[in-house]
Amino acid sequence: MCSKALVLTDINKWFGPIHALRNINLSINGGEVVALLGDNGAGKSTLIKLIAGIESFDSGHITIQNKSIDKQGYNVKTARKLGIETVYQSGSLGEQQSVWRNLFLGRHIRTRLGFIDQKQERQQAQQLLQKLDFRGIGANIDSCISQLSGGERQGLAIGRAMLFNAKLVILDEPTTALSLGEVEKVLHFIETLKAQHRACLLITHNMNDAYRVADRFVVMDRGTIVAEYNKADMDQQSLQHALLTAVGRGAA
Ligand SMILES: Nc1ncnc2c1ncn2[C@@H]1O[C@H](COP(=O)(O)OP(=O)(O)OP(=O)(O)O)[C@@H](O)[C@H]1O
Ligand SMILES: [Mg+2]
Repeated sequence: MCSKALVLTDINKWFGPIHALRNINLSINGGEVVALLGDNGAGKSTLIKLIAGIESFDSGHITIQNKSIDKQGYNVKTARKLGIETVYQSGSLGEQQSVWRNLFLGRHIRTRLGFIDQKQERQQAQQLLQKLDFRGIGANIDSCISQLSGGERQGLAIGRAMLFNAKLVILDEPTTALSLGEVEKVLHFIETLKAQHRACLLITHNMNDAYRVADRFVVMDRGTIVAEYNKADMDQQSLQHALLTAVGRGAA
């Protein structure tokens, strides 16, 4: 039997009069990479904010790692405890913090006496930066987040997902505005997640990126899921064609 990293059932979300998400049903298996595609304003970011515990939802049900979520008590902290790590579209990192403090924010390593174990945290942060292969001259564990390049910030957020052994990593347009080398790092990270049987939900407008790493493509249009495709069933060109048709049909 496949382990389910996430199951969304009949999710609805309103922003005042705007019905931003309509009856969303989506499930992601462990080790599966799902690309969430769709035009601007389709509801992709709203959906992942809801999974990450940032936004509430009005009706429906969420199951994470086979655990049913209590809608009232669900927040970012709970989501993280359940192994969900999210890299947001716009900076989610505290600008004025140092790299190592940011990494352990809300999840400190403690000594036996309950104090924050700075030595351990700094050591682990150092190891992580090496693993992430940060080459920028300004990037070390004491750098202020505001000093980092866009790619380094993205890398750091992804690094947090690695460090805390996330079961489901959500990436909202992670490769937008990155150099080719940095894009390659992000895509490689997604492939590593998959190899480790962790799940990934990836939002992107870049079809080459999506096709390379995703097993399944879920298409949203104006708050609903309008189509789903498996990579195994089609080459990139047929997928691109199908997407245009799916979104066109939704808009008709
Ligand atoms: N806090 C909010 N208050 C009111 N409306 C919102 C809010 N957040 C999002 N919306 C609306 O919900 C819809 C979906 O927005 P969302 O950001 O989820 O789109 P998206 O698919 O991520 O688009 P993009 O590809 O441009 O990032 C949009 O019409 C947007 O204006
Ligand atoms: Mg978005």
